[in-house]
Amino acid sequence: MYFVDGRWVDAAETLIHPEDRGYLFGDGIYEVCRVYQGKIYQWEAHYQRFVRSAAELRIAFPWTSSELQSTAYELVEKNGLAAEDAILYLQVTRGAAPRTHDFPEGMKPVLSGFARKMARPLAQLENGVAAALLPDIRWLRCDIKSLNLLGAVMAKQQAKERGAFEAILHRDGTVTEGSASNLFVVKDGALYTHPANHLILRGITRQVVLELAAQLSLPVREEAFDTQFLAQADEAFFTGTTVEVMPVVSIDGQPVGSGRVGAVVRKLQEAFAATIGLG
Ligand code: PDD
Repeated sequence: MYFVDGRWVDAAETLIHPEDRGYLFGDGIYEVCRVYQGKIYQWEAHYQRFVRSAAELRIAFPWTSSELQSTAYELVEKNGLAAEDAILYLQVTRGAAPRTHDFPEGMKPVLSGFARKMARPLAQLENGVAAALLPDIRWLRCDIKSLNLLGAVMAKQQAKERGAFEAILHRDGTVTEGSASNLFVVKDGALYTHPANHLILRGITRQVVLELAAQLSLPVREEAFDTQFLAQADEAFFTGTTVEVMPVVSIDGQPVGSGRVGAVVRKLQEAFAATIGLG
């Protein structure tokens, strides 16, 4: 018998197995996709990253892109979102087995997901947001989109308690990314962002922005920079599935550049809107 939230249950009676390794160890991976007017944005990129996260953690991943996409669209439709702006969450855990840290034999991965309506954050995209600088206490494989998110959860909560929208994380003074977004800064007309190595998530929106920057002939440096460079930036912005291209107008109460949304980020926002069919 298992004890779950005040009840004694048999595993067969539970929807999520009490010994699912996602639940016990955060032993699983996930993707968050944007749905614009019922259409999933950048599906193939999300699928490819899902497969890579699984491979890095040696989690079985038996679904093809089209199988998983069908499930994803069913989630959208069954939740009445076929013409809505929404968010779609998919996760795969290694599976359920008697608890042991090493991988048990014969694990069957467990896929689950949900979708719900989510409007674009239009006011924040227009006016920009405040950020809080915080230490990056996460593990050293931030390139894997794993369920272990406590470092991100704690940072986001601290940012919120400081009146900020998002955290900007740094490792010993080197700026990495946001708690749930990538970070770019603009200095003298060039874009700077941390290289896509093990210290950040290779964001899909980040990739879209890199391509848009190339099309707009904006110079890009995928280079690590420090908090001092950040403090002297002309502009800064987060990128991510939920935040799109989000201007940062202040960091720890200090204005970024003029303290108003800058011209480069506006240009990228317009180009980004065009990629979702709103340009
Ligand atoms: N987060 N970096 C981190 C740490 C993230 O968690 C995310 C996304 C990103 C941006 O990646 P993308 O552009 O592919 O969304 C960067 C999702 C939205 C989340 O956990 O809710």
